Amino acid sequence: MEVALFFLLVTTLLATHSQAASPSDQVHLLRPQSGAAGRHIHGVNCLSWRLAVETNTLQKWTLVPEACEQYVGHYMLGRQYRDDCNAVGEAAAEYAKSLKLAGDGKDIWVFDIDETTLSNLPYYARTDVAFGAVAYNDTTFNEWVATGKAPAVPGALKLYKKLVSLGFKIVFLSGTSETYREVRITNLKKAGYHTWVKLILKQVGDKGTAVAYKSTKRGELEKAGYRILGNMGDQWSDLLGTHVGNRTFKVPDPMYYIS
Ligand SMILES: *[C@@H]1O[C@H](CO)[C@@H](O)[C@H](O)[C@H]1NC(C)=O
Ligand SMILES: *[C@@H]1O[C@H](CO)[C@@H](O)[C@H](O)[C@H]1NC(C)=O
Ligand SMILES: [Mg+2]
Repeated sequence: MEVALFFLLVTTLLATHSQAASPSDQVHLLRPQSGAAGRHIHGVNCLSWRLAVETNTLQKWTLVPEACEQYVGHYMLGRQYRDDCNAVGEAAAEYAKSLKLAGDGKDIWVFDIDETTLSNLPYYARTDVAFGAVAYNDTTFNEWVATGKAPAVPGALKLYKKLVSLGFKIVFLSGTSETYREVRITNLKKAGYHTWVKLILKQVGDKGTAVAYKSTKRGELEKAGYRILGNMGDQWSDLLGTHVGNRTFKVPDPMYYIS
């Protein structure tokens, strides 16, 4: 009797609610407690901003909004960024395991470097850089790259090792200047990436956007008989354009945008 009454009450409440609620209310009702992370900071919802960034909805943005500097910092240094990166790595590994390789050494996985395999977080966490809320400084960034001290991005090294063990050949395709080849090799090895078939860096003659540059280089790989089965990057410009590969994987990066 009491149980029946309870159900009647719940049913009535739900019915009343769904009649009264507007479509946006209904979406809110699905997770009534989820608002905390997305609260407005000086009128900016930083979680909404980050989502728009990650989905390539927001393009050609130059700086992290000042109001979101702390939010992005917490995200990048905290658990969520690591979990997000690991989730991408695990999805990529699942996909890689599902493929049957030809075994002729032409099955490749293309990795971007910065914020995809090597992390510049020690640099971006500096107060003069402020997680991308302060204008990009070529001089200080290049000084950081020259130290060769970038650690591996969470999840990337594990994926890399899995791919190598599955028989994939690795190609690193980066917008880093050729000038930094030696230090990048040292850095990649120090971080645990020991083998690859190609490390493609930007030559003096490579002009234009990252989309154009990377498309050209991937086209050259395919022309040489390589099959790009997977392609991973932190920028949409790593994954858009031509010859993008059979499947692309986007790792998070709310700190900067490269066209
Ligand atoms: C970049 O940083 C260097 C070293 O701190 C500084 O001298 C230079 O003025 C900065 N450049 C810009 C464009 O802010
Ligand atoms: C990759 O894509 C190409 C072109 O669409 C297709 O021919 C090939 O079968 C795909 N390879 C795999 C392993 O899915
Ligand atoms: Mg990158």
